[in-house]
Amino acid sequence: MTNQLPNKLYGVVGNPISHSKSPRIHSLFAAQTGEPVEYIAIQAPLDGFASTVTEFFDQGGGGLNVTVPFKEQAWTLADTHTERCARAGAANTLYRDEAGRLVADNTDGVGLVTDLMVNHGLELAGKRLLVLGAGGAVRGVLGPILACQPAALVIANRTLAKAEALVDLYQPEAGRCELSACGFEAAHGHFDLIINGTSASLQDDLPPIPPELITVDTVVYDMMYSASITTFNQWARDQGARKVFDGLGMLVEQAAEAFHVWRGVRPDTSGVVKSLRPG
Ligand code: ATR
Repeated sequence: MTNQLPNKLYGVVGNPISHSKSPRIHSLFAAQTGEPVEYIAIQAPLDGFASTVTEFFDQGGGGLNVTVPFKEQAWTLADTHTERCARAGAANTLYRDEAGRLVADNTDGVGLVTDLMVNHGLELAGKRLLVLGAGGAVRGVLGPILACQPAALVIANRTLAKAEALVDLYQPEAGRCELSACGFEAAHGHFDLIINGTSASLQDDLPPIPPELITVDTVVYDMMYSASITTFNQWARDQGARKVFDGLGMLVEQAAEAFHVWRGVRPDTSGVVKSLRPG
């Protein structure tokens, strides 16, 4: 029998959404795996996220990714949360279970950790990590990072109270990791890896951490990505960092994890990042 399965509809919801790379990524995954997946970009009105989601699933949609600025709303809207999503308070993946309940998941953290460890060959266990930012993007990745058992994880943020609240929230998952919070200027000591999870570069701005935190051995990872090097990564290079990575690999890996959640099939991501880079 030939494959007569109708394509099942998936999508990403955001505002704005026209520049999203997710439709391209998922269509590459669908072609590679042969899964009957059609994936579209959906712009929800800023005050119309919930109705957009409900309508999509009522019409038989298979799953949604969620991006800025709706990740917190997605978490709140869901009837239930996967374990890795429960504490995050932000969701990037939605689907309905067999009972019709809206399930929220977060694949961002797994995406980041996979990009760091598998694609870039970095070890996180026993390392000293500095994470910049304490918004939705950072909340989504702390659980999977802590699961890798770093020796220390410092969360630095412009608004110190938000970083402190995240330390309190994630303390139960910290195990032996020394988890602490500080303001940007107060960050000090040696870090093996600095992850920028702030949205400062959207305003061409930099989190003002002391430049001496960056040495030739410091690995720098910006969760943002752009056609040319990100503002933060350029700054880090200027301070002497030799290894700087942007978040395009994380984007591909979080998409692969979502594809697996929905379809039970894991796409091969090797080569996908390269095919997305301009030039
Ligand atoms: P996201 O979903 O991208 O995480 P968010 O929840 O609004 O968005 O969080 C943005 C993060 O970037 C916050 O940590 C924010 O700092 P505050 O908590 O003090 O607001 C940080 N941020 C935004 N603009 C910044 C800037 N110009 N300099 C430094 N940090 C900035």
